[in-house]
Formats: sequence, C-alpha cells, structure tokens
Amino acid sequence: MLSTKNIKKLRDQYIGPSFSLSYHEPLHIVKGKGQYLYASDGTQYLDAVNNISHVGHCHPRVIAALDKQNRLLNTNTRYLHDNIVTYADELTNKLPAKLDVCYFTNSGSESNDLALRMARNYTDSNQTIVITGAYHGHTNATIEVSPYKFDGPGGAGSPDFVHQIPMPDPYRGKFRSNNDDIALKYADCVQQTLDGLDNDNKQVAAFIAEAILGCGGQILFPENFLAAASKKVQQAGGLFIADEVQIGFGRVGSHFWG
Ligand SMILES: Cc1ncc(COP(=O)(O)O)c(C=O)c1O
Repeated sequence: MLSTKNIKKLRDQYIGPSFSLSYHEPLHIVKGKGQYLYASDGTQYLDAVNNISHVGHCHPRVIAALDKQNRLLNTNTRYLHDNIVTYADELTNKLPAKLDVCYFTNSGSESNDLALRMARNYTDSNQTIVITGAYHGHTNATIEVSPYKFDGPGGAGSPDFVHQIPMPDPYRGKFRSNNDDIALKYADCVQQTLDGLDNDNKQVAAFIAEAILGCGGQILFPENFLAAASKKVQQAGGLFIADEVQIGFGRVGSHFWG
C-alpha cells in the first residue's frame, strides 16, 4: 500500500487541482462497510457524508447484482434486454401514476441536464426559475441553474435566463414559521417571477427544485410550497423539474420519491 505522504505527492503530480481533499489532515480511506469507512491505520469512521448515502457502503446485495451482471454483459441500450424493461416497470410502480416513462442516465447531473433539455424543447424557451443556494449538478447546463455554483467561489454569476427566488426557509428565511400562509408567500415569489417574464414577453421553461434543499442547507420547505409553486409554473405553460438526486429512491418519508 502507498504511504499517505506518497499518495499526496502523486495526487499533486497527476490529479487536477480542482479535485479538492477534505479535512486539514486528509484521510486515507481503504474500505467501506455499511455506515462505516475505515482508514489505512484501522480507524473506523461513521460516515455521515458519503455524497450521497443510500444503502451504505458495499451492500452485499448490490455487490452481488453488480458482479453477476458484469460477468454476463455490459453493453448499450440499443438491444432488446429484459432488465431495462423489468426495472422500468418496477420503478414506475413506485412512482406517482403520471410518472410512467423512464430515461436512464449515469448521474444526477445528466438527469437534470436531460430534464432541462426536455423542458426547453417543450416550451421553446430557456427561462428557468431556481431557488437561491440550490445545487443541481456539474455539467455546464446544470451549473447555469445552480446558484450554489454560479454564485460560489469561482462562479460566473447568474445567466440572464435564470431567475432566483428566495430560499423558502421557514426558520431563517424571508418569511418565517410553518403554515399555509408562509407557503403561499414563497409561492408568490414564483408568481412575481412569472409575471416579470410575462411582462417581458418571455415564456417560462421550468422551475427546478429539490423537495428538501440539500447543499443549500438541508432546508425543509413550508408544507404546500412546492405544490403551490409548481402549479403556478405549470399554469404558465412551464414544467416543474423535481431534483431527487439527494432525497429520492426511498431515502425520506413514507414514499419512494422525495
Ligand atoms: C441535489 C443534487 N442534484 C444533482 C447532483 C449531481 O449529481 P451527480 O453528482 O450524480 O452528477 C447532486 C450531487 O450531489 C445533488 O446533490
């Protein structure tokens, strides 16, 4: 095994500097199991980060399924195969009835990128509403709708087709407490943006949001905010894009989606 010092030296030599390391004394992690990570000196760490956790590290059923399929076939989607349709069937059965078509991608960024492309194609517009502090991915298109990136270190600021609404944070936000009134006040911020677009003769393409704001600070929105806000966007002819990268697939609450 390489020494910690040697790994650091080789990183400096071969790895682009934008690949940042966590912690003042970076950890040399060699193993993961369930909720734990293990360092080269044997120290066990409870992993509360893992970007983004689901069933834990190296879940035996996940490993077994990956191993079985890798030994059999790994190719593209342009052949008939049982897995893509049986998986889509099982997945859509866990989602609301209207979400009944799948596009499979390799990452959250690609999913959001594709969703934006669909919304722009459908509306013939790129005017997009986003929540301050939100992060939706690392492709060019998703950075453009991520205030966390474009307003963060090294960011280029908001593109002119992206419109931010304040974080619907019932605790520290512009309007506080958790009742329908607050939800509607935040939804009104969306309406004001829609009215502004209308005045400028611009069509809204999409409102993209997580149901719980992740990188923005794990913010739980006032109940009914998203329902009210997305309805307004849909009434104006735009689409609502639910970014489920952090909270989907059974991670929160009673439903498979967030
Ligand atoms: C809310 C959210 N959207 C999108 C992404 C991008 O996903 P990926 O890193 O799989 O491209 C992330 C990643 O952390 C995320 O947290």
